[in-house]
Amino acid sequence: MSAEPREEIIVHLGDRSYPVYIGYALLDSVNSMISDGVSKVAVVTQRNIGVLPEIDRPSEIFYISDGEHAKSLSTIGGLCSGFAQMGLNRKDLVLAVGGGVVSDVAGFAAASFHRGVAFAVIATSLLAQVDAAIGGKTGVNIPEGKNLVGAFWQPSFVVCELSALETLPERERRCGFGEMAKYAFLGAEELDMMPLRDQVSACVRVKASFVESDEREGDRRALLNYGHTLAHAIEAVAFGDSGTDLKHGEAVAIGLIFAALLAKRLGRIGQDRVDDHFRVVNSYGLGTKLPTGMDADTLVRAMFKDKKSFGSLAFVLDGSAGVEVVRDIDPSVVRETLLELENMK
Ligand code: GLY
Repeated sequence: MSAEPREEIIVHLGDRSYPVYIGYALLDSVNSMISDGVSKVAVVTQRNIGVLPEIDRPSEIFYISDGEHAKSLSTIGGLCSGFAQMGLNRKDLVLAVGGGVVSDVAGFAAASFHRGVAFAVIATSLLAQVDAAIGGKTGVNIPEGKNLVGAFWQPSFVVCELSALETLPERERRCGFGEMAKYAFLGAEELDMMPLRDQVSACVRVKASFVESDEREGDRRALLNYGHTLAHAIEAVAFGDSGTDLKHGEAVAIGLIFAALLAKRLGRIGQDRVDDHFRVVNSYGLGTKLPTGMDADTLVRAMFKDKKSFGSLAFVLDGSAGVEVVRDIDPSVVRETLLELENMK
């Protein structure tokens, strides 16, 4: 543990602005972050999180199950019934304590209950701290696809409790590194040279700047999906397949390498830049190979089904002007690049 003071980064969104606190041993300060007008707190978490603040006003704890399957409309229904039974009202607070699944689910339940109750996040996973907890994207999966139902609902505050990362299983940590790796190409330079605390702060600053300039993903925020077009396709193919055990950040890492290879194939970058992508992804100990059994045609079909495809293939790609959205990419070029990735040693 460190006695260093916490860092505070504001996400500037007018009257929906909020602070993100980054540091160690922040749980004791959580009550002072909650507005005086809040009389009840619904804490949403999972049993394995191992972090629970002591709330100084009436509160109830709601445990959701582990894993992506907790992101369902039935979980939202169960939470909203629980909120109603505890008498949570519109001036109260839903407090998410956990990683991305918890913040997505608790945020969407808060956005829906009474047509919108305040919510806040104590982010305990690296992925939530550098990405999922910030920016107000909340939602759940339906059988037709991941994150197809949700809302933009900004939190009132976010706490990045760094001590929680010390007990994070190695695989979860690496999953966060997958999201972190993308920031190396979005303005956070030489992240891998910094102590973890500074890496989290640098990523939060970049994320905040994208959200501030484009809260509802009209254009610029889409760049945060660098590496995600293939990642989402991999996840969509794996969704519901209990034999495929690839975490989101791991899929993003593969997606970053794929995006670099595609950008090179389209003449947007040279081999040196492709090498940069391999260096960053390797520096976080992440794999770059497609999961076995995922062939190029299946992945291209999944890309067309993505809710953001609008009938053509679009990717966030690197180039001389930095990363940008490139639309209407020929599916055969995508297929060839997937085969190149598949055949890499
Ligand atoms: N995770 C991408 C975004 O928040 O926009």
